[in-house]
Amino acid sequence: MKAKKEDNVVIFGMENSQKLAQEIGKYLNKEILPVKTTVFADGECLLKSETTVRNKDVYIICNTSKPVNDNIMSLLILIDSLRRSSAKSINCVMTYYGYARQDRKASGRDPISAALVAKMYETAGADKIITIDLHNASIQGFFNIPVDDLRGQFIFSNELLNRKEKLVIVSPDHGGAVRARQLSELLNNEEQIAIIDKRRTGPNKCEIMGVLGDVKDKNVLIYDDIIDTGGTIIHAAEALKANGAKNIIIAATHGLFSKGFEMFENNAMIDEVIITNSIDHSHLSNFKKLRELSLAQFLSMVINANIESKSITEVYNAYGKRKQ
Ligand code: R5P
Repeated sequence: MKAKKEDNVVIFGMENSQKLAQEIGKYLNKEILPVKTTVFADGECLLKSETTVRNKDVYIICNTSKPVNDNIMSLLILIDSLRRSSAKSINCVMTYYGYARQDRKASGRDPISAALVAKMYETAGADKIITIDLHNASIQGFFNIPVDDLRGQFIFSNELLNRKEKLVIVSPDHGGAVRARQLSELLNNEEQIAIIDKRRTGPNKCEIMGVLGDVKDKNVLIYDDIIDTGGTIIHAAEALKANGAKNIIIAATHGLFSKGFEMFENNAMIDEVIITNSIDHSHLSNFKKLRELSLAQFLSMVINANIESKSITEVYNAYGKRKQ
């Protein structure tokens, strides 16, 4: 009997992506294989599969969020071990790409760390990267292997199309305007988008210069790729309030929340914060304003399309709801 393509597929989940990996495994009806991790006295680590991967198409569900350097190193070591164990292909489903924001020389003598880590994944032996809402889509060009930079707007539009309230989609900076426009289009919004005129004044620091667009008496949704310290998006919310916005919802694909979630929970201006599970937020489950949307169904459809050599456009069409 001819083996099905999916029979040749094995899936691993890095420790910090276990929850999402298990969900994806359920959709694909596949067991998530264990990774054996050994940590030596000096902090070095060794990661390997407990079963053979010879000639297998391997998928690793991973994210390189905090602690970024440790998570990158663990992933590199696992990729190296799989390559040396004769895996046929190594596909990293990297739901958050650490160092994505160091994507250019913004000032003299800056490193381009997003390019450096891209080279490291490739050198270790990755054959493909599947990721979602890269901070800058040009990061795809730092790789010589294929990169699927998936559009997270579909995750949010599916959620927002279930709701009645009309929202003006706001980008918290000029760089996110296209992303905001795409979400607005998926929602069939008649409203114009708005853009915050933001100036970066240092690492994790910014200054708001003004709001472009009409938000007076409107309910707004500020849509960003990353919430890190929360500074950008809270400043954006303040500027929108000052310009007459009514209810404010915050949405971002990657919720790092490096300074905790209290600043959102205790902020009367903010009604809700919607994020995806690109990063595990189990430790924040007690917060009432936090709403987490799962990537599991979408990513399992993408993995399946990859196995079956189908187009990602077909996945978007099948996954994305339409306004009734
Ligand atoms: C920057 O350009 C990104 O798109 C985010 O706006 C930024 O990383 C958010 O960082 P923070 O929450 O620390 O302001």
